[in-house]
Amino acid sequence: MSIHISAKKGEIAKVVLQPGDPLRAQYIAENYLENAKLVSKTRGIFYYTGIYKGKEITVGASGMGFPSIGIYSFELFTEYEVETIIRIGTCGAYTTDLKLFDILNVENAASESTYAKYAWEIQNEVLTPQGNIFNVINDTAEELSLKTKSANVHSSDIFYRKDQNIPAIAAQYKCLAVEMEAFGLFANAQYLGKNAATILTVSDIIPTHENISSDEREKALQPMIELALESAWK
Ligand code: ADE
Repeated sequence: MSIHISAKKGEIAKVVLQPGDPLRAQYIAENYLENAKLVSKTRGIFYYTGIYKGKEITVGASGMGFPSIGIYSFELFTEYEVETIIRIGTCGAYTTDLKLFDILNVENAASESTYAKYAWEIQNEVLTPQGNIFNVINDTAEELSLKTKSANVHSSDIFYRKDQNIPAIAAQYKCLAVEMEAFGLFANAQYLGKNAATILTVSDIIPTHENISSDEREKALQPMIELALESAWK
């Protein structure tokens, strides 16, 4: 047990898929894993461990934002000897060059957040995936003939804001989209010498206000889930 995860030692696999939403973790466990066992439900943040194509995988939620993914990924890496976390989330596109349902493999996460600086004295405002899993995801997407795009994203603390212009840091680093967790995950993995990547599905186009309806979401996220599972399996 750790402070925020009630699984016993040994109940979490070396590779963890992390959606933001606990119900999405449940959906993945129920639809993709064999013998899935609920190993933690502290605070309604579900973690399941099961088998995918013969390999043990855990799927569990990160919650929203750096404080939340910071806590869960740290405890997974340090208390459960997890080696690799693949975040699977959604993002808002800053540009109409992206379309709803596009899949991004995050190459750089730029942030105004002080998380990395104050947690680990990492001064960079741009952090990258750690280890080789970013490349594994790109190779796996090619094998699956699944179109994905390596992209810079803005990892933001802010969902609702007054100013609707693209934030300065996003323009500076040519970020195509915004989400709220990759930078925190990459910071923890960098500090701890672990592996981490982030795959995102475009769920809204900010300039046009188009978005994937909640009915469409489950189906919309399936290609990303399959890409993450196939990459984790390697
Ligand atoms: N995740 C999905 N859409 C988002 C947005 N518009 N801003 C931040 N995170 C998001």
